[in-house]
This record gives sequence, C-alpha cells and structure tokens, in this order.
Amino acid sequence: MTDRFNLNLANPLLSNLGNLMQRLAPALRQDNVPLDLISLIKTILAATKEISFRVSQGHLGDVMGSTLDENIQGEVQKQLDVVANELFKDILLESGFVKAISSEEEDHSVAGDENGKYIVSFDPLDGSSNIDINSLIGTIFSIHEAPKDMAAGDDDMFKQSGNKQVCAGYVLYGPSTMLVMTTGSGTHFYVLDRTHGGFLLVERNVQVPVDTNEFAINMSNQRFWQAPMQNYIADLIAGDTGPREKNFNMRWIAAMVGDIHRVLCRGGIFTYPADSKKPEQPYKLRLMYEANPMAFLLEQAGGLAMTSQGRIMDIEPESIHQRVEVIMGSKNEVEKCLSYYK
Ligand code: F6P
Ligand code: MN
Repeated sequence: MTDRFNLNLANPLLSNLGNLMQRLAPALRQDNVPLDLISLIKTILAATKEISFRVSQGHLGDVMGSTLDENIQGEVQKQLDVVANELFKDILLESGFVKAISSEEEDHSVAGDENGKYIVSFDPLDGSSNIDINSLIGTIFSIHEAPKDMAAGDDDMFKQSGNKQVCAGYVLYGPSTMLVMTTGSGTHFYVLDRTHGGFLLVERNVQVPVDTNEFAINMSNQRFWQAPMQNYIADLIAGDTGPREKNFNMRWIAAMVGDIHRVLCRGGIFTYPADSKKPEQPYKLRLMYEANPMAFLLEQAGGLAMTSQGRIMDIEPESIHQRVEVIMGSKNEVEKCLSYYK
C-alpha cells in the first residue's frame, strides 16, 4: 500500500510546526512505550490515514450505500465499513506485529503471525449510521499482549479484561482527523497534519472536568430503561426546578466515538444503559472494541467508566462480541448517576 501522505521535510511551515508540536514517535518514546508497540501503533495509523482519505472522498470514492451482507450483530454493513475492515485487517496481519485481530465486522478472531507479540481488537468504523450523512465517524482500537500459550486464531486469546490493555485509542474522521490515545501514561490528543502525513501531538494529559451539565443518551429508549436510569434522567430534565437545582443540556451524535470525544474535550456523561427493547439483548455497546478502549482513555483522563455494577475494565470477558452497559464521563456526574442504583 502506498502512503498518500508523503513526508515533506523541506516544507518551511512544517519545520515551524515541528518546533511547536511533537511528532508521534518521539512523544511515545518519552512515555517509555516499547519500540515494538510503537511500530504496531504506526501500522494502525497507516491504516487509519488511508481510511481518513477514503472517508474524505465521500461520494467520489464510490463507497456510499449498503452491501447486501449483514454482520454478526445483524446490522446492515455499509460499504465503507467493509472497506475499512479489510484495510485494517490486511495491514495489521501483514505487519508481523500481531498474533491475531478481532473486529466488529468478523465473526471470529483472525490469525496473524504466530510470533506476534500483540493482539488488536477494533471497530473499523464506529457510528456507521453517520457514514451516508457525511457526519462524524471513527476507528476504535484496543491492544493487549498476546498470550504465549495459545495458538493464533483462538478466540480465547481475547478474553482479557480492559485492565490488561497496553494501548487504546480512536481516530476521529471529523473536520480534522484526530488520534486520541493512551498507553497508560495519560490520554493525549494528536492531529493528522496532511502537509507531512504524520500525527502531531497537540494536547498532552487531557483532563475531563469532574462536574458537568451535559448528558448524552438515546432518549427514544426512555420507556425501556430500568427505574434507576428513568429517575436519574428525569431529574436532569427537571433542571433548576428539580432536585439537581441546575439546568442540563443534551447532546447525541449517535457515534460513540464522537460522543466520547466531546466528553474528553469538555466533560459530560455518556450512557447506553440496559434496556428491555429487545429482551434477549439488554445492552447495545460492545465491550472489547467500544467500552474497554473508551474506559481506558477516560480513566487516564480522570474520568470514570462504569456499569451500574462496577468498573468496566474489571469485567472478565466471556466472548469477543460481548455487549455491556455503559455509564461514563465526568467523575462526579457518573457517581451521581450510580447513586440512583443503590
Ligand atoms: O456502534 C454502535 C453505535 O453506533 C455507537 O457508536 C453509538 O453510540 C450507538 O450505536 C448509537 O446507537 P443509537 O443511536 O441507534 O441508539
Ligand atoms: Mn461501533
């Protein structure tokens, strides 16, 4: 695959920028990230740069519309989901750094190099209902060390808690393409600089404000929620006439990656609670490639990432496409929400 973003060190603008903003690899070395993990991260980012380009092409890239296939969750796959998945999968499996990958778009994990040190779980394009309306979408990834005693391709390799993640992040394909990532030394923001093709560090150690007056939830599911969530949201909506004695605002991007990005930027609470809409499926979001990586990013930024029962990252996974209840964001607000469940 060719890199569309050729390095142009002669660019005078770039040399100025370089003085102000650190490039990705030196920033990671500063955090003592092992060299082979840095190489894997760079491989992941090569795939996201290609996806970013294709997303930006929109209709011109002939990628709009739906395929006839449905993925394992029964959702109609968009062509761009498929394209992003294939790109990510091919680049990662060819790299030699990964023992296996697991994707939202693959029924089972896919074997890579038997000697690969890492395994990667990913959602190639989160927020797929936003693809056709030229709105916010992103790629989410989570990296664990590969167990040495299991063969590549064994799904059980992925049954590791979020606590064991060595890196988590997302790339947001918005007005600018941003990387938000943690390796356990804080959560940092990077922006893709298209003049030289690399990600530049723009904000180190992002901190989520502990208090907020903003919430994100799909209100159309209200009648299906459990009583504690019904009561909590009712009190937010009551605003300064209710027990909270302040007004709240609501935001819903319908792409977790966009909603969590807003929370990281300015605080808020994001929840996809249990509901009884489909009794056989009480939760919507996936543990391995949605909840866990976002939980790692938020906790590293001083936020909380919980279910009504405990920390998301403490959950011992039972299957690679497991779904989970999610209540995350500004610390004090998440704690307030959880108090309704006691
Ligand atoms: O991947 C699932 C997802 O697209 C999330 O990104 C998002 O938060 C959620 O589903 C939106 O679901 P809905 O708006 O349909 O409730
Ligand atoms: Mn998703």
